[in-house]
Amino acid sequence: METLARPDQPQLNSRNAGLDARGRRDPVHPGDRLIVALDFPSAEAAMDMADRLQGTCRWFKVGMELYYAAGNAVVARLRERGFEVFLDLKLHDIPNTVAGAVRSVAGVGASLLTVHAAGGERMLRAAVQAASAPGSPKLLAITVLTSMDAAELSAVGVDDTPVAQVLRLAQLAKAAGIDGLVCSPQEVAAVRELMGPNALLVTPGIRPAGAGVGDQSRVATPADAIARGASMLVVGRPITQAADPAKAAAGILDEIRSADQQTS
Ligand code: C5P
Repeated sequence: METLARPDQPQLNSRNAGLDARGRRDPVHPGDRLIVALDFPSAEAAMDMADRLQGTCRWFKVGMELYYAAGNAVVARLRERGFEVFLDLKLHDIPNTVAGAVRSVAGVGASLLTVHAAGGERMLRAAVQAASAPGSPKLLAITVLTSMDAAELSAVGVDDTPVAQVLRLAQLAKAAGIDGLVCSPQEVAAVRELMGPNALLVTPGIRPAGAGVGDQSRVATPADAIARGASMLVVGRPITQAADPAKAAAGILDEIRSADQQTS
C-alpha cells in the first residue's frame, strides 16, 4: 500500500502511520493525528466550530450532512483558513458513477476522500484511476462502519466477525491500489499487521474514557487507538458537543501525545 505524500499538504507517510521502517514509534505532531468531524447542517455552524478550534486543530472532516447542505464552498472556506480537509463522502455505486464522482470533487482541495470498499475491486480501481490526476485527494476505503456490531453485519448477510470482514475488505482495497483505510480502533491492530507500518489507517469510533458511545459500537479511547497502530483519529461529538470544544480537543491531543510517547 502506498503512503500519502503531496507537496501541498502535510506528509502522511510512515511517520504519520506512527511506526518507522523498523516498526518503532516515531512521534508526529498530535495535530496531524486528529481529524474533527464537522457533522453540522450548515456552513455557518461548521465554520463557527472551526473558528472555536482554530489554533488547536488542523484537520476537519466534511461528511454527508455538511457536504449535502454546503457543498464545495465549505471545503474551500476551510482550506482558506489553512485547514486540511477529509472529505468523507463514502462513495458506493457502479464503477463508472464512482469514477465520475471522484473526478467531480477531485479539485475542491480535500486531502482525503472516502469510498466504500464493499463496492468491490472494479469500483475501487475506477476510483483510483479517477483520482490519479495531480492535486486529487488520496483515497481511503471504508471497511465496516464503526456503528455496526456482529449482529447487524449478520443481518446484512455477512456472517464473518467484524475483524474478518474488515481484513477481507482491506485486502481488496490494497489490491486495488487504494491509499489507506478507515476501520474501527478494535480492528486496527490486525489491519496494521496485515498492511505494514506505512499504511495510513484512520479510525473513527473514538470515545475518551467516560464519554457516551451514542450510535457507535466498536469504540476505543484515543490512547488505545494510537497504541494499537492508528495513524489518525476521527472524533466528532466528544469534541463538537462538548461544553468547551477546544478544551475537549486539547485533552484528546494530550492523550495522543502521551500514547505516542509510551509506545515509542
Ligand atoms: O461523533 P462521532 O465521533 O461518532 O463521529 C464519527 C464520525 O466518523 C462521523 O462523522 C461518521 O460519519 C464517521 N465515520 C464513522 N465510521 C466509519 C466511517 C466514518 O463513524 N466507519
